[in-house]
Amino acid sequence: MVVELASSHPGFADPVYRARRNDIAALALNYRPGTPIPAAEYTAQEHEIWAVVSRELAVKHDRYATAEYLEGAARLGLPRDRIPQLEEVSRALEPLTGFRYVPAAGLVPLRDFYGVLADGLFHSTQYIRHHSVPFYTPEPDVIHEVIGHANALAHDRYAALYRLAGAAARRVESEEALEFVSKVFWFTLEFGVMRERGELRAYGAGILSSYGEIEEFRGMDIRPLDVAAMGTTHYDITKYQDVLFQADSLQHLEEVVGDFWATCDDDSIAKLVATAV
Ligand SMILES: [Fe+2]
Repeated sequence: MVVELASSHPGFADPVYRARRNDIAALALNYRPGTPIPAAEYTAQEHEIWAVVSRELAVKHDRYATAEYLEGAARLGLPRDRIPQLEEVSRALEPLTGFRYVPAAGLVPLRDFYGVLADGLFHSTQYIRHHSVPFYTPEPDVIHEVIGHANALAHDRYAALYRLAGAAARRVESEEALEFVSKVFWFTLEFGVMRERGELRAYGAGILSSYGEIEEFRGMDIRPLDVAAMGTTHYDITKYQDVLFQADSLQHLEEVVGDFWATCDDDSIAKLVATAV
């Protein structure tokens, strides 16, 4: 297994890192559903990256994360001093909300990635970012997947929203409708913000796993929660997200986005696209 890295990737010119990435990706290829997720033998340096980032993020979460995300984090109790194995994350999560982790070697096709959320399965990378820039990653690493997503998946109400997104991805047929569903996911469960106790707080995994972005989101272009707008707004994954959509509360998110995912189909999405242009 050879993992491709862009020339701008912090680990591009580091042969040791590239060999690690290939070895860790091979673990996912050898995974068979129903068996334990193969353990990655992380180096002391890799555990240290997790420890540093997880300590800093925990402080920021107290200030910037929603109450339910913090509740999920408290229930899950991720280790702060070392990278947990995905199998360990899965075992802690399953009794809470039924979600389990599945290792992914690389990018998972949209329909599979979202579709299996309906079954309570979450595809996750297993590698960690390059040590030269511990607070940055150009791609979703184990810090994003576990600190960002698992803490949310540990709360019943967020877990229910992930499942509804999965059901929507399975229900829609066209690639356009699937893309719409995935964009709504992007602007909510990846980059969603919410008004809570008079402040703007984040529940999106992309913000809550990013040391830099978490300090910036309150200053972004904050727009009202609107499914048609979210499903048709362009985004650039390589930059901080400058357009964010704000829910008035978790209940508001459930009513607007949860109900959309619960009921949408190709026709209803085509109508929303038509109203958005
Ligand atoms: Fe993510």
